[in-house]
Parts: sequence; C-alpha cells; structure tokens
Amino acid sequence: MSIRDSDVQRVREATDLVALIGRRVSLKRVGSRHVGLCPFHTEKTPSFSVNGAAGFYHCFGCKASGDAITFLRETEHLDFVEAVEQLAAAASIELTYDAPGAQSANRHRKELMDLLEQAARYYHEHLMSSPDAGDARAYLRRRGYDRDTVLKWRLGYAPTLWDALCQHLGAPVDLLRKAGLASAEQESDFFRGRVMFPICDASGRVVSFAGRVLPRSGEPPPKGPKYKNTASTTVYDKSKVLYGLHLAKQAARTSERIVVCEGHTDVIGCDLSGISEAVATCGTALTKQHAELLSRSAKRIVLAFDADAAGQTAAERVHQWEREFGLDIFVATLPPGSDPGDLATSDPPALRRALDEAQPLHTFRAERILERADLDSPAGRDRAADEAAEVFAVYPSEILLGGDLAPIAGRIPMDVEKFRDRVDAARHRLDDRAAAERRRETARSYEAADHAYPDDWYDDGGYPDYPGGDDDTGYRDGDSPYVNDGSDRGSGSGETRTSHSQRRTARQRNTDARKQADADLALLAAAASPHSDVLSLMVPEMFGTPAGREAFAQMTSDEGWRERAATAGHSSQDNSSGGDPEQDDPFDADVGPAAELLLAADVAGAQVSEEDAKDCVAMAMWHFVRATIDSVSASGDIPRMELDRSLSADAQFEFRHRCLRWLRDIEPKLLDLDERIAAVQAVRDWLDSLGEAEPTG
Ligand code: UTP
Ligand code: MN
Repeated sequence: MSIRDSDVQRVREATDLVALIGRRVSLKRVGSRHVGLCPFHTEKTPSFSVNGAAGFYHCFGCKASGDAITFLRETEHLDFVEAVEQLAAAASIELTYDAPGAQSANRHRKELMDLLEQAARYYHEHLMSSPDAGDARAYLRRRGYDRDTVLKWRLGYAPTLWDALCQHLGAPVDLLRKAGLASAEQESDFFRGRVMFPICDASGRVVSFAGRVLPRSGEPPPKGPKYKNTASTTVYDKSKVLYGLHLAKQAARTSERIVVCEGHTDVIGCDLSGISEAVATCGTALTKQHAELLSRSAKRIVLAFDADAAGQTAAERVHQWEREFGLDIFVATLPPGSDPGDLATSDPPALRRALDEAQPLHTFRAERILERADLDSPAGRDRAADEAAEVFAVYPSEILLGGDLAPIAGRIPMDVEKFRDRVDAARHRLDDRAAAERRRETARSYEAADHAYPDDWYDDGGYPDYPGGDDDTGYRDGDSPYVNDGSDRGSGSGETRTSHSQRRTARQRNTDARKQADADLALLAAAASPHSDVLSLMVPEMFGTPAGREAFAQMTSDEGWRERAATAGHSSQDNSSGGDPEQDDPFDADVGPAAELLLAADVAGAQVSEEDAKDCVAMAMWHFVRATIDSVSASGDIPRMELDRSLSADAQFEFRHRCLRWLRDIEPKLLDLDERIAAVQAVRDWLDSLGEAEPTG
C-alpha cells in the first residue's frame, strides 16, 4: 500500500505535533519548544524536546527523534501507512493511494470491522432484551455480572438459531466468513447458543469474538469446546491482541502495572474487584508481540495464571522479553485450583493481595529449578546452584540485591556470597557465548556479502582513504578473510608474509569497503526509484565507491536530469534561480529541523553536553534521510531500504556515514551562525572518528 507523497506531506503539515504528543506526555513550554519526560525511556528530569513549528521531537537522553508519523509508529506500534491514515483521519484529510490494490485492501478491512461492530451490537441487544436469552442472563447474574458489567464489556448472546446473525447482517456469506462470523463449512452462523465476549484492538474496535457455552441447569453439558474463538482473519491475529487492553491501558496510567490473565472472565472479575488494569490472552500463550504491546502501557507486568500455566511460563522465553522491552515481570501465586475470575467472586481481597505480592519472575523461575533439583546430594546442589545462577545472570550485577539472591541461596543451601559468585561466573559464560554468537553473525553476514556482489565491485582501484593502497595482503585468493576471526590461519598461498596486525588492518579495510558498497547499492536503488525527490537530492559525493559514483554518473549523464527530477517534486538543488533563497532552497525545509534541534541544544545550554549536541544534529540528519526513505519504501519500491533503529549497529553506523555525506553537502546552508559552524565541524569530526574505530564484536 502506498500513500501519495504529497498527501503524506499534507498530513505532516496538518498535524499539531505538540497536541499529538501532549496526549501521551505532559509538555511544558520553554521558549519555542515544549519539553517533557521522554516516553521512550524512563527518566526523572525532562530531556524530551518537541519543536511544534518544525514538526520534530528529539530526546537528549535516549536520542529518540522523529516527526508525528514516527511518533505514532513507535508509540502505537503502527506501520507507516497506518500511522499516516490515523493522522489523516484526525485532520480530515482524504488520502490518495498510488497502488490500485491499496485502497481496496483498506476498504476491505473497514468492511470487516463494520460487520464485526454490527455483530457485537446484535449479540448485545439480543442478550439484553430477547426472550430466548433468559438463560444467558441468569447465567451471567449467577457469575456476579450486573447490568453495568454487561454494558461495560458489551457482553452478548448468540441465539441458537441456524443463521440468525447472517440473516440480520444481510452481507454475502463469503464476507461474513472473512470476518469470522459465518461457519466455514455451512451457510450458518459461526457462534450459536453462546455467551459472547467481543474482543477489541488497542483502540477499542471490535476485531473478533470469544463465545462461551451456556451451561443449562439439569442438562448435560453442551458438546463442543467451552470457548469458541474467531480464527485468524485479516483484522484479527490472536498473537497480537489482548482482551481488555483498550480499557486496561487507561487504568495502567495510575496503577503503573498491567495484570495478564488467561481468560476473559478473569479480566472482568479483576475489574469487578477494582483491578481495571487486567488483560487476557485469547486462547494462546503470551507472545513476544503481546509483551511489546504491554510495554507501551506499563513497565510492571503481573502474570496471574493458574499454577500450571505459570509453571509453563517459567520455562518459556518470557524472561527474555523483560530486557528486550524493558519490562519488570512478576508472577502472582493464586490459591491452588483457582483463577482470578473465581477469586474475584469468592475472595476479592485475596486476589488483590496475590497480585500485590507477586514474585519477580527471576525468583519464581529459580524456585521452580530448585523444586525439580536433587538438593540432597552435593552434586545435585552444585548443578542446581549453577542452573539457578543462570536465571539471575541475565541481570546486571548492580540491580541484583542480596534480597533477590538470599532466599534462593538459603534454599540450596549455599552462602549468599558464594551464590553471588556463581551468578557472576554464569554472567561471564553468557557474555562469552553472546560474543561468540556476534562474531559468527558478522562472519555470516560478510560471507553472504561475498556472494551478493561481483568480486570486481570492490576491486576497482582501491580506496584513496585507506592507507596501504593496493592489495598486498594475500587475501584476494578466494580465501575469505571474514571467517578467520583473528586466527592466524594462513591464506594458503604463502606468497606474502603478513603480520597479524597487518591482517587486521586489511580485514578492516575490506569490511569498510563492503559497507561502502552496501550503502552505495542502497543509494542506487533509491536513485532508480521513480520518486524524483530522492534523485533530486542526490549528489555524486554521496557515493563511497568509485563504482557507485560511476553508476550514478551514468544514471544521470543525461543533462537536465536534475531539473526534470526537480519539477515533479522538490525544487532544484542548484540554487541558481536568484529568487528568495528561503523559497528556492529545497534544503532549507529539510535542514530546518536539524538547525532547529541544534538551536534547541544551544538554548538548553548547560544541560546539553557537546556530545548530545553532535548527536542531535546527526540524528536529525538521520531522521531526514529516513523520512525520505520512508516515503520511498512506502511505495513498495525499495523494501530493503526500510532503515530504522532496529537495524544492526553496523547498519546504523553506515547510515550515519551517509548522513555525514549529506551534511557535508548541505554544510554551506547551515553556516549562518558561528555555533552552527562549530557544531557541524564537531559532528563531522565525531562521525569521522566513528569511521576510524574498529567495529565491535
Ligand atoms: P479456562 O478453562 O480456565 O476458562 O480457560 P475460564 O477463563 O476460567 O472461563 P470460565 O471462568 O470457566 O468461564 C482459560 C482460557 O483458555 C481459552 C479461553 O481464552 C479461556 O478464557 N479456552 C479455554 C479456549 O480458547 N477454549 C476452550 O475450550 C477453553
Ligand atoms: Mn474461570
């Protein structure tokens, strides 16, 4: 799907960034900017700065930066198109889509959502007023759900009739199947004779249903599963949806935690006990996507599963997401055989206590290990200590308090300081393993690069920037240096004797060459796209390899290409029109944010280190390039150019280098103020120094 660039631009301009961010972050005006606590990392003093006029934000703490679209993408976990659509809707801008399929795909989603909403209404009204829903009403009352509860959760009842909903909605059965409302095999309703729980996405739109069988007194239990769930549809993926999240995320603002249960009735039960920050997975285990989704609403996550499921969770990868998404995960211990839904009815204070007294996940996991261990033999204790130590080893030593370790050490039993040594040893083992994995990863990626490009891509006369000039390393004999990993294994030919350090330099040089080549390929791909605004912003100096420059020169050899490229989108890069430079200079608009951010850094003065100021400009430039690339990749032309902060450190590093090249090119336009000169110089030096550094790992 691709939204026309001019529309994206209109949406950017129409969006009040301060208001948008202000909904999430409390902002205070400081001069021309607004500042507040950064939503992307935890902090006590505000380092998050929003420039409403320029439409950019930047955090001096964690370096997050971007515009309204990036902000929505990152805070609401939307893709580019979804973010633009949401902003466009808010600004009442009608979007035009370039690809013919796009608009219809979007219409299709909307069509399904409309049907789901109508279905929710139908089931709900049926429950509230239909004579045949008397049993369902009685059942819900028995469970302690009063009218308010039923209204709040929009509970419903699906009649036992064959196709009552399908008839009511009157849509083609095919479409009803796609929405998950009609049975796949027959022309009948998917849910029949069930109590209905509508499931909403994070914004509260109905995306699916769960239907619970209705136990009727004096009758054998109805056949079929207790809960029937909508299967995957275009608008519903159970691994990405949490029941109740749209309500819980609001409650989590004050409670600063989210409780994760297994069932819909657990969520409602929690709510009835005054715990409104509860969600449930919908017939699936907690997924990584769930964890990420949760991390946007609260850092503290309390798992309130029954004992079996909690034990299962201890063995799963849940703990990895703690660090990945900055979560603190806790596990609540419920009385055996009970779930939060039951406890909410039988003993609400016990439920609240269980949640408040939940154990940290690491303690919970370590205890499960000790439960299974043979603590009667010295060997068994030794092994259990190591296994338990590994649980704690993923946390930095500073945050592990004696209080975390003591109960586990005491149970082994082992002296707590000895146990701490075990944890430190386990941490070293983990670090070593991770470093080895990184080295293998690097080797693999360069091996892949070896296959991806023809040999002569690198072999075109050398790179003047690299000392040593010609290839004298003995590495060009087909024996890939990238997998040698510092060992002194000979290249086989033995014709050139080289020292270890020379080899390292050579390897570094080839690595850099490869990065340059990668970057050039990406740039060429951008240049080849029909998006004239990308091409019009390109200059030969952006290419790092002679081959890249040559290819670019050939592409643009036709005189007047720049003008032609410019007329479609941006104005000419050569500012030769003699008109108002503010008007004519395409870079002013784009560089504006960088300059603004730099000024913001100056204004903030004492609080901003020189390093921050440099980073600030680099990030702004990075963002600018990224925004350009976003608009290109949104058209689907260059999927490989989707560059963002999830990229590897090396790729980000390369991207900064590209930013530097941009910066050099636009430098003259930034030279209005002495401070800017100094900052640009500083950024350049800083980026250069990065370029000279050895890559890590
Ligand atoms: P439970 O069997 O624990 O049900 O399943 P519950 O949530 O306590 O429901 P009540 O209190 O008996 O009404 C937990 C969750 O597992 C999924 C559902 O999401 C349910 O909420 N499940 C269970 C199914 O998807 N299908 C089933 O047949 C049973
Ligand atoms: Mn239950």
